Parts: sequence; C-alpha cells; structure tokens
Amino acid sequence: MEIDRPAGPAAALPKKTKEPRYISFTQQELPACRLLLTPAWVIGICLVLAIVLLPIGAGCLHAAFSVEEVSASYDQLCAAGTSYAEKEASLLQTQGNGTQCSLQLTVRKAMTAPVFVYYELTSFYQNHRRYAGSEDNSQLRGVARTGSVLGGCSPEQYLAGNTSAVIDPCGLVAWTLFNDSYTLASGGNAIAVQTIGIAYPTQLNSQLSNTVHPQNFNTVPTLRGGGTLPDAPLNTDQRFANWMRIAALSRFRKLWGVIEQDLPAGATVNVSIVNAYNTYSFGGSKAVDLKQITGSYSRLDPSSVLM
Ligand SMILES: *[C@@H]1O[C@H](CO)[C@@H](O)[C@H](O)[C@H]1NC(C)=O
Ligand SMILES: *[C@@H]1O[C@H](CO)[C@@H](O)[C@H](O)[C@H]1NC(C)=O
Ligand SMILES: *[C@@H]1O[C@H](CO)[C@@H](O)[C@H](O)[C@H]1NC(C)=O
Ligand SMILES: *[C@@H]1O[C@H](CO)[C@@H](O)[C@H](O)[C@H]1NC(C)=O
Repeated sequence: MEIDRPAGPAAALPKKTKEPRYISFTQQELPACRLLLTPAWVIGICLVLAIVLLPIGAGCLHAAFSVEEVSASYDQLCAAGTSYAEKEASLLQTQGNGTQCSLQLTVRKAMTAPVFVYYELTSFYQNHRRYAGSEDNSQLRGVARTGSVLGGCSPEQYLAGNTSAVIDPCGLVAWTLFNDSYTLASGGNAIAVQTIGIAYPTQLNSQLSNTVHPQNFNTVPTLRGGGTLPDAPLNTDQRFANWMRIAALSRFRKLWGVIEQDLPAGATVNVSIVNAYNTYSFGGSKAVDLKQITGSYSRLDPSSVLM
C-alpha cells in the first residue's frame, strides 16, 4: 500500500483513509473487568449465605419437628390368617362388608385442633400409566359421554359390557376408591371426624361435576373394586376427590378427615376399623395416621401428594 502513495505535495493533504480515528473505543481498549473469585471473596460470599440461610433452615427444621404424628399399620392385625393369600380369603368371606378390628393410638404430645386423619397405602401404583389414564376428565366435569370417546376408561367403561349402561364416573381410578372406614373414640367418648374442607376447593369447583350423580357405579357389589359413592353430585364427596388426585409414589397418604377437637398428651384414641379394601391381593400395607400440623402450614398437607 505504502508503495502506491503518490509522492510530492499531495502527500501533505489529509489522508483519505477508512482507518478509524484513534480513540480507545474504536481500538477496543476500554477498561474491562473480569470477575476473578479470589479465596477472600469465596469465603466472604459463603459466610453471607450462611448467615442468611441458617436461621431459615433452623426454622424449617423446628416446624418439621413440631409436627406431632401417631400412626399404626393394621392390615396384618385386621384379617385372620398368616399369609396374604389367607388374609385375602378371610376378607373375601365377608362379601365386601369387611372385617372389623380396633387399635389404640397413644398421643405423646398434646395435639390441638385441627388434627388430620390420614390413611396410608403402600405398593399401590396410582402413578402407573394405564391406571392414571383410566378416567375421563370431561365426564368427571359433568359432560355426558358415550361410545368410543370413553375408550380410556376401559375396562370400567360399561356395566357388565352393556354399552347402554355407561359407568359414571368411569375408569379404574374411580372404581378402586378406597373404602376402609374408621370410628374414633377417646375415653369412651366418640370423636367426630369431619369430611368437609379436606379437598382442594379448585378441584371441587373445576374438576368434578356439581350436578351429575354417579350412574351404574354403586351396583354389582361382588365386582366392586372399591367403595361406593353417595347418590349426590360428584363434587360433594371430598374423600373421593382426594382419591382422584393421583399420588406420585407407590407409598402415599391421603386425607380421610379432620378432627376439630384437641387431644391431650397421653390420651388414648381407640380407632375401630372396618377393613374392607383388598390390599392383600397385591401385598400392600395399610395404616391410619393422626397428625397435627403447627405453624403456618396450609390445611392441606402436600405430603398427601408427595408421599
Ligand atoms: C353384608 O352386609 C349386608 C348388609 O348389611 C348383609 O345383608 C349381609 O348379610 C352381609 N354379608 C356378610 C357375609 O356378612
Ligand atoms: C343395558 O342398560 C340399559 C340402561 O341401563 C338397560 O335399560 C338395559 O336393560 C340393559 N341391558 C341388559 C341386557 O342388561
Ligand atoms: C370395598 O372394596 C373392596 C375391594 O377392595 C370390595 O371388594 C368391597 O366390596 C368394597 N366394600 C364396600 C362396602 O364398599
Ligand atoms: C375400641 O372400640 C371398639 C368398637 O367400639 C370396642 O369394641 C373396643 O372394646 C374398644 N377398645 C377399647 C380398648 O376401648
């Protein structure tokens, strides 16, 4: 390039060039800063995080420890026989009515109302793809459905294969509704168990119909996979609503009721159980659980979903 430049007076004229002016921006010489974590900084940041997070952790731990809980498993206790097969046989002899038994729960620390009553099942895979999909959301919301659109509900779609008798609510999830029941008493006095306010209001308002009554659902007791439903709009049975909220793990706990009564420390709660749900066929266990949640926890405990 230099070689081509004309010599002489023209060289004194300002150069016509595309070269940018020499300023630090155009030359990319602006001061830059790069974050380099020196040991002092690392230690400092960790210390600040520790100061902020330790009290939060201590608070959570305290809340977790102040949850008072008593529970007892009853599947072995409540059916005669030694093996699962024998226990299942003795349960089936009751023709669905269930065996009866009672157990005592001793309250160690005083529980103040509301006290939650849960049932816990193990080895029950509500999250199985075929099981979880065996329901019809539109039908649950109250839309009348017939024919092939209900295919997902198979095999609990039509009552005894009669295509004019659509089961409502159809599908395995509803059909296997948990049906054990508990009666609670302490010191000879009955403890009332409420079933109102145990399900999520959004689920009652939007997932389940407020007009449609169950149809072809409560019939054929010998074929029943689980409990029956009241002849009332679907969203009035809050235990049913909890059952329809699929549990994520094979061991789960669902809210069965609420006791609006304090239980003093040392109190013995007599739980008398109607053991009707057949968990013996798949080797699952059942437990009943009383739990008081202190602090700002919501009434609905997420462990019913997570456990
Ligand atoms: C089951 O309960 C029904 C109604 O209470 C009764 O009629 C029936 O005899 C009972 N069956 C057995 C096997 O106990
Ligand atoms: C099928 O269901 C319909 C409606 O419930 C009923 O009228 C009819 O008698 C049933 N048919 C048979 C064969 O059971
Ligand atoms: C309870 O569920 C079992 C299935 O686990 C069923 O065989 C039985 O008929 C049901 N009993 C009642 C009273 O709903
Ligand atoms: C518990 O309740 C059942 C049913 O009411 C009763 O038969 C049993 O005797 C009670 N047990 C105790 C220890 O009170």
